[in-house]
Amino acid sequence: MTVLKIITYPDPFLKKKTKPVEDINDDIKKLIEDMADTMYEAPGVGLAAIQVGEDRSIIVFDPEADKENRPYQVLINPEIVSTEGELLSENEGCLSVPEFRSDVKRAEFAVVTGLDIQGNPVRIDAQGLLAVILQHEIDHLNGILFIDRISSLKRGIYKRKVKKQLRENE
Ligand code: NI
Repeated sequence: MTVLKIITYPDPFLKKKTKPVEDINDDIKKLIEDMADTMYEAPGVGLAAIQVGEDRSIIVFDPEADKENRPYQVLINPEIVSTEGELLSENEGCLSVPEFRSDVKRAEFAVVTGLDIQGNPVRIDAQGLLAVILQHEIDHLNGILFIDRISSLKRGIYKRKVKKQLRENE
């Protein structure tokens, strides 16, 4: 088991747009396995490769965070093809945004496509929590954090808190 270091805000790497995976080779498969280890250890319900320092379009997720059975799914080069409706994702959090949670407006339904670990095309018709997780993780591939989707007032509170902590740790 390999638990990778999770990059946190305000590291500029998190703003990078990721590159699609062209060849699902052994390095990519190992990265996916390590990402799952890291997600379950955190624990979290989703993780994007950019959060562990790899600017590739890969996400892993498990809405149950079931560390024992590890029924996680992986999507390579995922894309949101359509969304519908709206819901309030309550107390959303992110492993790269520690010690902060906020309600975020998300779509209630999302259709997502991508590839599985064998390179087969996958289509997921997601609703509710799964739809939220997929929107959150796919945002990471475009350099977007959930704090970019909340009011500037709330974001400002978090940014000041992080700045203060960084000063104190100097
Ligand atoms: Ni996140």
